[in-house]
Amino acid sequence: MSAESETRRVVCISGGTSGIGAALVQAFLAEGDRVYSFSRDAEKLRRLEGRWPEAVAQGSLVLLRGDVTDAVFLARLSERIASDAGRLDVLVNNAGVILGAGTLEEGLEQWRATLEVNLVAPFALTQVFADLLGLSEAPVVLNISSACAQHPFATCTSTSYSVSKAGLDMLTRRLALALGPKGIRVNGVAPGVVDSEMWGGATDLMREITAKRHVLSQAVVKPADVAEAVLFLASSRARLVTGTTLSVDAGYTLG
Ligand SMILES: NC(=O)c1ccc[n+]([C@@H]2O[C@H](COP(=O)([O-])OP(=O)(O)OC[C@H]3O[C@@H](n4cnc5c(N)ncnc54)[C@H](OP(=O)(O)O)[C@@H]3O)[C@@H](O)[C@H]2O)c1
Repeated sequence: MSAESETRRVVCISGGTSGIGAALVQAFLAEGDRVYSFSRDAEKLRRLEGRWPEAVAQGSLVLLRGDVTDAVFLARLSERIASDAGRLDVLVNNAGVILGAGTLEEGLEQWRATLEVNLVAPFALTQVFADLLGLSEAPVVLNISSACAQHPFATCTSTSYSVSKAGLDMLTRRLALALGPKGIRVNGVAPGVVDSEMWGGATDLMREITAKRHVLSQAVVKPADVAEAVLFLASSRARLVTGTTLSVDAGYTLG
């Protein structure tokens, strides 16, 4: 292993092919890090490869097709990173879904699928990477939560989504407690309304909710704003920060 590859951080980001995940890939690559990311859709992966052909050619960006709920894939991913890099410095649990709307209107299948991706998978990824994180000098886990975790806002339309993210915030704290003695920091970032593919083109609704709840600016949060907070929490500037979730929500959760 070269001296350069010893000093570059090894970063794994779930769901790096759109929205916040793609901004995270860009931000960590700009820091000179070596980034692994994955998602389910082959076409989205090809598009991402097309954005950073040099990083892909140099092995700074490794993109894999896989589902965050697939335990066999997660095991293969950790074996791949172990054999390539021998450690993991930063894990970002970013992949997330909103599948339904309402409360009693949401079906059990939607509930289970939402919890699997948004809550069980961040735990599973942390579990599968715990040993590799333990080999890092400054290991960090970051969970991408949501303003919807903090209060039953009427503007958060899916109850299963809000519940999954509230669970994720508690998972952040429990993991910070469990992994702190190993030197692994665990934190979250909770965005407000972010302009991303998650809105499925519902631009008017997105802008309406932003105008109502983003008291600071009435502007949507950009994926790059979330990436900035993640970069800070992943850095040595936050070396004593663990078990916390930082809101990047232009005041969404204030009242
Ligand atoms: N947009 C917002 O307003 C907002 C607000 C607060 C929090 N967040 C959170 O921010 C995170 C990123 O959301 P986003 O807005 O960037 O959404 P997005 O544009 O829809 O991106 C979601 C990413 O997750 C991947 N993904 C979804 N299910 C997956 C699975 N089962 N296995 C692997 N990858 C999967 C998607 O790729 P494939 O579909 O190809 O698998 C995609 O790359 C999520 O956790 C979300 O809850 C978003």
